[in-house]
Amino acid sequence: LEKKDLEGKNVLITAGPTREYLDPVRFISNRSSGKMGFALAEEAYKRGAKVTLISGPVNIQTYASIEIINVETASQMYDVVKRIKDEHDILIFSAAVADFRPKDFKSTKIKKDQLENFYIELEKNPDILRYAGETKKNGQIIVGFSAETENIVENSQKKLYEKNADLIVANNVLQEGAGFDVDTNIVTLVSKDKIIELPKLSKKEVASKIFDFIVDYLCKK
Ligand code: C5P
Repeated sequence: LEKKDLEGKNVLITAGPTREYLDPVRFISNRSSGKMGFALAEEAYKRGAKVTLISGPVNIQTYASIEIINVETASQMYDVVKRIKDEHDILIFSAAVADFRPKDFKSTKIKKDQLENFYIELEKNPDILRYAGETKKNGQIIVGFSAETENIVENSQKKLYEKNADLIVANNVLQEGAGFDVDTNIVTLVSKDKIIELPKLSKKEVASKIFDFIVDYLCKK
């Protein structure tokens, strides 16, 4: 029997990479397939939630019943989150948002002919998770991801407090079978009072463990 333990919940998920344009044909981006975010959206939907997925450019199809809002840039993603976040009970930030964007956007294609070297000045993008944490409503549950290469638990705990999140899903991106593009992930769940190391699982199974944790520990508080 399928669990319907998210019935009545509105779930917001960010997924995929963002693109930060230099000119109409060039952009800076992050490695991200969007698979983890889409797996989370599908799991939440199956468990009875109303799901809104804000996605950067990815190549994945999903259920028609999941509302998808397509964006390209971090600042577009930020604007959408800002507009709709208060209507949601559970917010999960799994997007690989580009931390920086080119300071200037050239509306016509940059020509290489006159250039020997090419310098790009970057400025910081808004931190969407941090903003959601700072403006968290009573009872809202906020989940962030972290991609780490060392001191995974310590760095994730720091992120948890700094961004006022309820759960950080920590990835060791250097481990085989974790992170980018692949269908599996190896994560540790880090909350204020629990640390749960999960084995290598499919992203679908990871999504199910994340919602089990949310329902069993976070919704009860
Ligand atoms: O601080 P760091 O980028 O490692 O935090 C990662 C988490 O923050 C992820 O959940 C990611 O989706 C979110 N994030 C965000 N906006 C940014 C950068 C990261 O929402 N500009």
